[in-house]
Amino acid sequence: MASQITKAVIPAAGLGTRFLPATKAMPKEMLPVVDKPAIQYVVEEAVAAGIHDVLMITGRNKGALENHFDRVGELEATLERKGDMVRLQKVNYSSELADVHYVRQGDPLGLGHAVLRARMHVGNEPFAVLLGDDLIDERDAILPRMLEVEQQRGATIVALLEVEPELASLYGIATVEPTDDEDVVCVTGMVEKPAPGEQLSNYAIIGRYVLQPEIFDILDRLEPGKGGEIQLTDALEKLAEDRSIAGGVYGVVFRGRRYDTGDRLSYIKAIVQLAADRDDLGNELRPWLKEFAATLE
Ligand code: G1P
Repeated sequence: MASQITKAVIPAAGLGTRFLPATKAMPKEMLPVVDKPAIQYVVEEAVAAGIHDVLMITGRNKGALENHFDRVGELEATLERKGDMVRLQKVNYSSELADVHYVRQGDPLGLGHAVLRARMHVGNEPFAVLLGDDLIDERDAILPRMLEVEQQRGATIVALLEVEPELASLYGIATVEPTDDEDVVCVTGMVEKPAPGEQLSNYAIIGRYVLQPEIFDILDRLEPGKGGEIQLTDALEKLAEDRSIAGGVYGVVFRGRRYDTGDRLSYIKAIVQLAADRDDLGNELRPWLKEFAATLE
């Protein structure tokens, strides 16, 4: 029986250039999605899947991340004095959410390189990787199913989403074969961001992975790929190619609600969608949105 996965790695070293100047002095992971920083959704997702040990791969200018997941004595004391227990609870929640560790990436050599920086912390166990630009709706959680498939197959698991062909060049794309499980496919090949029109399938890797520790040796030896960066997709391709290394790669097909916060337009859409769904904001926001939309005609 495979061991329980206890560690999650969250790469958070990106410069956030798409959001400048907002990200000049603030990490992009701290941009609010409604009223919570994007990164908190991702940590909550790991915790909801039973993973409490979180390693963030950070860089310069990421101090706000550490502060967010730490106590903040002065603020706590002020809220307590005022008797504002609701806000106090919100402030305390993120400090107590998980056991968060940090390591800096150093050179910005790509996602694969960021994941390789987790080696010392993770050791010789399978682990989860969650990318902060992809938010998965908690009502449609996919990580628990990925952990289950990892237990059953002892393999590497990626989350796959069927995308329109014109979007394929934004993602790592997997070629797949069916398995006996309706929502699980066997990954036979992978290409990082194929040129428009050159993708071999519509299955895009969204930012959730359950990786076997063998990935570290592969990443360590990997030549730079797309964009001159060490690509996680290229390392996964090697595992998909040679099933004898670590049991191959399987994809869990995601059909739920997902919000991309990686670029400005998707980020705005994510906020509107999530706020419209919320009990405390939706009732007022939804009719206003309709009125507003009508003025756009
Ligand atoms: C990264 C990965 C890519 C994956 C994507 C999911 O790309 O390299 O394979 O499909 O995340 O969001 P990025 O979006 O960081 O450029």
